[in-house]
Amino acid sequence: DAKVPFYGAHQAGIATAAPARLAFATYDLTVSGSPEENRAALRELLQTWTAAAAAMTEGKQVPGDSTTLVAPPADTGEAYGASPANLTITFGVGPSLFDDRFGLAAKRPAALADLPKLPPENLDPSRSGGDLAIQACSDDPVVAFHAIRNLARLGRGTVVMRWSQLGFGKATSNGSAQETPRNLMGFKDGTRNIDGTDAQRMDQYVWVGNETDQAWMRGGSYLVARRIAMRIEAWDRDFLADQQHVFGRYKYSGAPLTGSKEFDTPDFGAKDSSGQPVIPVGAHIRLAAHENNGGIRILRRGYSYTDGIVSASGELDAGLFFIAFQKDPRKQFVPLQRSLGAHDALNEYIQHVGSGLFACPPAVSGPDRYWAQELL
Ligand code: HEM
Repeated sequence: DAKVPFYGAHQAGIATAAPARLAFATYDLTVSGSPEENRAALRELLQTWTAAAAAMTEGKQVPGDSTTLVAPPADTGEAYGASPANLTITFGVGPSLFDDRFGLAAKRPAALADLPKLPPENLDPSRSGGDLAIQACSDDPVVAFHAIRNLARLGRGTVVMRWSQLGFGKATSNGSAQETPRNLMGFKDGTRNIDGTDAQRMDQYVWVGNETDQAWMRGGSYLVARRIAMRIEAWDRDFLADQQHVFGRYKYSGAPLTGSKEFDTPDFGAKDSSGQPVIPVGAHIRLAAHENNGGIRILRRGYSYTDGIVSASGELDAGLFFIAFQKDPRKQFVPLQRSLGAHDALNEYIQHVGSGLFACPPAVSGPDRYWAQELL
């Protein structure tokens, strides 16, 4: 049954095809000892977490005793008997891990620089940051949730969950075998994404290579998460022609406004009969395209989300939980988002309200290793 290998060179959940559901969580360490003691606690946590993650992705229960009647079971049980349904559990560490608590400052990668302010964002601190992050993806929402819940439980006394986000309906394709899914604005999303099976582009844009200043990150990647709220009601009142101008693509076919088929290459130089650019100056794809950004590309792997309604307005609290992987956020996500933040026509309908940046080390090679072992 559907299993994605946990051991290997790169962590699963980046290049691998996105399953239908996401459970994302960040965790803060609650340790209060000396740096040596705190590092030991972190090491122990990561040994426990890695073993549990390996078991869960195999469709097994969290290791430990789940039959003794006089103790709580080791596994909470809600995924018992279920297929892992392509479960991947991807681990990362945030910039805050490199403060005084662990004595790890010298091992902080330069690429893990705190994200600068990126207007027009309006970030909620209770939906941002975290010492550690887990991205669990599965075609079964129970299985994905089970992973972040059980890791929190196993870490009790060492970590607390800081925030979490459930996502549904992958909002971008990242493989040529997948049909392009649609985001909550009704547009195909992922058409010109990096294909996770394209090893050459993955090496060029996504996997950390020899250029890194920190050997423990080689073969890893940097995850940027942004909770992007959509003003869905306003969007739904916008004329079709305007919606298409916002993205620079046709809504139903997904084709660029200069083409007729989804995968036609956009022609950013094309003008209409009155001399105006066919793909408008503020169109999302014009501003985001590698052709107009010095060749920058990122791997997008986001999910749609909804968390009910905003009580003050009665409007939907919904949007895109944007996740991107890249070699170096300073050279990829940050300049891209600066360009979008300043000029994107989409800004009328969205707002970035949560943010996270995490260094995801390479995968563990086998059961005798644990996540970020070379860091610790
Ligand atoms: C392209 C939607 C935010 C980067 C697209 C496309 C859509 C879309 C519909 C066209 C299809 C495709 O090629 O995938 C959205 C929505 C967003 C959002 C609804 C927010 C709610 C972002 C952010 C970034 C980004 C924050 C990066 C900072 C890109 C890139 C492309 C793209 C690089 C490909 C452009 C190209 O090469 O043609 N997005 N996007 N998007 N988006 Fe976004």
